[in-house]
Amino acid sequence: MDDRDITGDLDRVLYSADEVAARLAELAAQIDADYAGKELLLVGVLNGAVMVMADLSRAMKSHVQMDWMAISSYGSGTQSSGVVRILKDLTTDISGRHVLVVEDIIDTGLTLSYLISNLLSRNPASLGIMTMFRKPEAARNAVEVGYVGFDIPNEFVVGYGLDYDGRYRNLTSVGTLSKHVYS
Ligand code: PRP
Repeated sequence: MDDRDITGDLDRVLYSADEVAARLAELAAQIDADYAGKELLLVGVLNGAVMVMADLSRAMKSHVQMDWMAISSYGSGTQSSGVVRILKDLTTDISGRHVLVVEDIIDTGLTLSYLISNLLSRNPASLGIMTMFRKPEAARNAVEVGYVGFDIPNEFVVGYGLDYDGRYRNLTSVGTLSKHVYS
């Protein structure tokens, strides 16, 4: 879906599909270099990270393995609920593995804080974090995120995996949702 297909639903486009792809290529090269000689396990956080995972992994030149977790942190609205629980766990034993968590967005950082302590308790060889988008509140917290696509304003954004009520994930660009859609 292109932003021209949903004219009126977006206030503005923050990043075009080309801009997202270009930034992702830079991050992929950086990750390739940082993990050179190591077998990396990418852990995608469903559902939003599907697009990032698919594009990041294919932009990389190294072999990677992939696994998925599903964690609930949001309701169907626009606010983080603070509720974090595992809906689907990894199938891989990450003990002794080099793990890179792949997220679409870090908003409050609640999900990530939970995820980091949970995954560290499984004794990985290393644990890194990559997110395509990061909001200001998360940028202020102490969690170290090694790879950030874009720091974005504290607005409701959709596209490239980010949804509103299950919609807009398949938008190729990323934009701010018009208030009339959710108010
Ligand atoms: C989003 C996103 C992160 C989380 C970040 O997932 O993918 O996992 O919210 O928010 P936080 O920093 O405030 O915790 P969401 O729960 O919306 O599920 P989804 O990926 O299925 O859209």
